[in-house]
Amino acid sequence: MSTVSSPRPYREAFESFWHPVAFSHELKERPLPFQLLGTDGVVWRTGSGVAATQRYCAHRGADLCHGQPSAEGLRCGFHGWTYGGDGRCVKVPSQPNAPIPGKARLASYACAERYGLVWVCLASQPAAPLPEWPELEDGSLATVPLPRLDWDVSAGRMLEIVLDVAHLSWVHDGTFGNPEQQEVPAYDVERRPGGLRAQIQYPALSPSIGGMAPRVDRTTLTYDVTLPFTVRLAFKPTLFYTHTVYAAASPVSEEKMQCFYFASYHPRIRNFGDMFVKSELAILEQDRRIAEGQRPKAHPLDFAGEVHVRADRLPIEYRRAVAALRLGQPMDAPDTE
Ligand code: FES
Ligand SMILES: [Fe+2]
Repeated sequence: MSTVSSPRPYREAFESFWHPVAFSHELKERPLPFQLLGTDGVVWRTGSGVAATQRYCAHRGADLCHGQPSAEGLRCGFHGWTYGGDGRCVKVPSQPNAPIPGKARLASYACAERYGLVWVCLASQPAAPLPEWPELEDGSLATVPLPRLDWDVSAGRMLEIVLDVAHLSWVHDGTFGNPEQQEVPAYDVERRPGGLRAQIQYPALSPSIGGMAPRVDRTTLTYDVTLPFTVRLAFKPTLFYTHTVYAAASPVSEEKMQCFYFASYHPRIRNFGDMFVKSELAILEQDRRIAEGQRPKAHPLDFAGEVHVRADRLPIEYRRAVAALRLGQPMDAPDTE
């Protein structure tokens, strides 16, 4: 695929997928606002789970993130109108004996909590399930989140930098990148239902511990993409700790995302959480500076304005897959060259 004829509008192409809008630990007794694909929403805890609706009250536009979850639903702070998780108004305190107007309802969205994240799908029917990360289901692994990454970067560009193999030795010099290893060996990209998978070996530099010089740590990196904007990246080093990172980029708009980024690890690794947060934030800051500077800001749908080479294979296949979604087509098979 080299040209794009008529892509669907950005929101229309991605509204039927699940996107994270909050970490579970952020959503406490107060509702939280979110912005997803240009839509303002609010998410809150119900008695039995989580619910998401439009952000502004159907009565007179008050901001429901200042409302109060109650047994009956989300109560607006302006006049107490109360909405169930399906968006229907169930209470108008100023007229308790009058019928509730049929138009007194909020747009409501599918909402689910899994893997320590609260996910929302804006369409009535999700087109694909949540990512499959079974290792997180039985509680045998510990997890550690980073603060939300609030970057001025499109979700597609964010995924592409996470999937970019050739930048490791350049951008991550000084963290784990190995400047001696600039050539990218050939690797395969496998198409899977709803995603992509690739595995590479990378001679990372292990963190310098106790004043010792960093050592080359032959690391197996396994990338598992769940389309459109989520990736699981497993690190299997020989010297440092095996761990897995999860990056779920939530498209605020076509040119901006927030990324929910966390790691899983064996709970017996002491101090992993502190070490991970410190080193990963330094690594991601290196990425942020590059990604925020890329133009065009919107994720390109073809390759017309850039020159890609074989070493860029994984980001190329990812872009093809996202372009197919924009065009409403089945994913192209990756090249087999
Ligand atoms: S604006 Fe929300 S109840 Fe009046
Ligand atoms: Fe990077």
